[in-house]
Amino acid sequence: MGQVPEKKGLVKRVTDFANRVSAGRRLSMVTCYDAASAKILAASKVDAVLVGDSVAMVVHGHDSTLMATLDMMAAHTAAVRRGLGLEAFIVTDLPFPWHRKGMREALDAVDVLMKAGASAIKLEGASGHVETVQHLVESGIPVMGHLGLIPQSVNQLGGYRVQGRGVDAAERLLEEARMLEAVGAFAIVLECVPVEVASRLTKALSIPTIGIGSGAGCSGQVLVWQDLLGMQADFKPRFVRTFSDGFDDIRQALDGYADAVDNGTFPNMKESFE
Ligand code: KIV
Repeated sequence: MGQVPEKKGLVKRVTDFANRVSAGRRLSMVTCYDAASAKILAASKVDAVLVGDSVAMVVHGHDSTLMATLDMMAAHTAAVRRGLGLEAFIVTDLPFPWHRKGMREALDAVDVLMKAGASAIKLEGASGHVETVQHLVESGIPVMGHLGLIPQSVNQLGGYRVQGRGVDAAERLLEEARMLEAVGAFAIVLECVPVEVASRLTKALSIPTIGIGSGAGCSGQVLVWQDLLGMQADFKPRFVRTFSDGFDDIRQALDGYADAVDNGTFPNMKESFE
């Protein structure tokens, strides 16, 4: 009997991604890096959690995801796992350049991330390491692909720019997406790809696509936590919609605290011990 999945917040297993999409739902995915935020996510309607290597930028202050390390990804994955509990399905980014070091090394790195709490791995690109993806999948590891603007290749791409423009580039993207699908990837993130190309890819594939800067034709969307909550006053790319005014809200709360300390209204007697 075909099970109709109910959409009740975070997915619990890899098949939930495709099941929710075939049930006519669009997937919402958000990055998360710490236990406290994970608890908020667990109480929300969001479908899926990604411990992205964007942590190197938005948490650690580096200027690219190339600075993410295996230890860093493992520590943040473990924190998110502690916040979400044992049941939630967590996707963690394989940091640069573990997917290019060979199958054995990639498997060792994935082992570290899974022992830290990851349920699945996301890795960037396809050409040149499809065998590694296949090896991971055959080893029982759910793999999510990531095509289009692949931030770990920012130096080669010449910046954070839209990818897949023009017939040849679009064809190459489709070819790479098909390669990932053929070796068993369960979903693919499409980052900064023109709307028409992302929609065409989504229709051509049998696995869900999760877009970021790639329009509404994807099977779902992913946003970085800090972007979604408007916490980065100095960074607002066109594809980001801020669903809260995090920077100003938090700053106002901090100002309120500083003023209350300054004028002696915090702490009061109820907040103190006699
Ligand atoms: O690391 C990350 O946050 C990501 C998303 C932007 C998809 O890979």
